Amino acid sequence: MPEYDVLEIEKLKRETGRYAEKLGRKPTACVVTFGCQMNARDSEKLLGILLTAGFEESADEKADLVVINTCTVRENANERLYGHLGHLNSMKREHPLKLIALCGCMMQEKDEVERIRKTYSFVDVVFGVHNLYRFPALLARRMESGRKVFEVWDKAEKIVEDLPVKRDVPYKSGVNISYGCDNFCTYCIVPYVRGRERSRRPEDILCEIRRLAEDGVIEIMLLGQNVNSYGKGLEEKVTFAELLEEVCRIPGIERVRFMTSHPKDLSPELIRVIRDNEKVCRHLHLPLQSGSSRILTQMNRHYTKESYLDLTRRIKEAVPGISLTTDIIVGFPGETEEDFEETLDVVRQVRFDSAFTFIYSPRTGTPAAKMEQVPPEVIKERFARLLDLVQKIGAEESGRDVGKTLPALVEGSDPQVPGRVTGRLSNNVMVHFPGDESLIGKIVNVQLKEVHGFYYIGEMS
Ligand code: 5AD
Ligand code: SF4
Repeated sequence: MPEYDVLEIEKLKRETGRYAEKLGRKPTACVVTFGCQMNARDSEKLLGILLTAGFEESADEKADLVVINTCTVRENANERLYGHLGHLNSMKREHPLKLIALCGCMMQEKDEVERIRKTYSFVDVVFGVHNLYRFPALLARRMESGRKVFEVWDKAEKIVEDLPVKRDVPYKSGVNISYGCDNFCTYCIVPYVRGRERSRRPEDILCEIRRLAEDGVIEIMLLGQNVNSYGKGLEEKVTFAELLEEVCRIPGIERVRFMTSHPKDLSPELIRVIRDNEKVCRHLHLPLQSGSSRILTQMNRHYTKESYLDLTRRIKEAVPGISLTTDIIVGFPGETEEDFEETLDVVRQVRFDSAFTFIYSPRTGTPAAKMEQVPPEVIKERFARLLDLVQKIGAEESGRDVGKTLPALVEGSDPQVPGRVTGRLSNNVMVHFPGDESLIGKIVNVQLKEVHGFYYIGEMS
């Protein structure tokens, strides 16, 4: 596997040194992340590169270098970027040495990059998702030449291992297991921008996790657009369930999560591995998208209302108490009132702990964008009804573990109440309880005393 090119970072270090001389101080860098966990993980790599090259981390967009890692899954993500750019432009007028770099999914869209080139000429560096590892070389070139550097690749050339990483938190980490997506759900732009599905080799994944464990990480989130189809195209035949079992065997790793699961590929073997491994968290995010079999066909999802209901039933039976969450799209082209009622019916039957609900957003180049659209006022009305139901059921489901004592990973101090900390249960629900900062990053047993909305108040036992 190609390794990260250390020479490029040496060059960036030299350029950063010159930049520091001009500024009269160490330059600061702020990485802003839009979108999913994959982007969040990529941003940790971007920051890792920048810290290695001599930048200082900043959470403020007033920083000398601002990198925006963009998302394009829905139109409003794109609009958010343009909002930010207007603001950055005025900051750059006051700080002419300021550098602005854009990367991520939206940069894979040619029209957007053209718009940025023409209308947002103050942007210094643009790169995409397939050449993230080229960031040091591109930034160094911009610093050296003073000219804009735009480089976006249409497809991935290779998977580059061993980029430096600056983790957001010391005790947990995302780990990519695959990149891209081959499913081509008809509403989704991801396969076009992130390219074909490529799995990392199991030994590279396990080696990274062993190193993370040695570095104090106790919780791992395995990341892929569709983790359940992991292994496709690898020389060695290995399933996601097998990989998950291997990850659970790594000493020091106490909890394993994964994201995202496609219902069509969730195997009985995976259900068994979840059931038999206490380390696998009792939470499954299983995007439904629609409860209507007719719409699911139109979406190219390869499952039906009945098979989704059967799957969730089998999961709940095998792993009692597991928390199920989902994604639902309202107003996919051609969705009728009857179709929408089917979605409500699935929500009622499965009783999700929570659901991300989205208004369908047409994405240029996807098949659904050319289908007959549902009027916005109809979508709005359905969206409100779905949200009501999801919240009502979520509220009824929350609190079902009151009285139990369960392990919680302490993630921080409670910002509302001094002397209290906040922990995450295996099923992803939060609990607040008396404790001090020394507990952060540790797993402790907490008795769940009361439920307040969607979280618990507890006491360490
Ligand atoms: N419109 C609305 N929601 C979408 N999603 C993906 N594409 C679109 C779109 N065009 C949602 C899906 C997916 C989640 C990450 O985003 O529900 O699971
Ligand atoms: Fe998009 Fe479907 Fe792939 Fe998920 S599985 S990234 S929704 S195409």
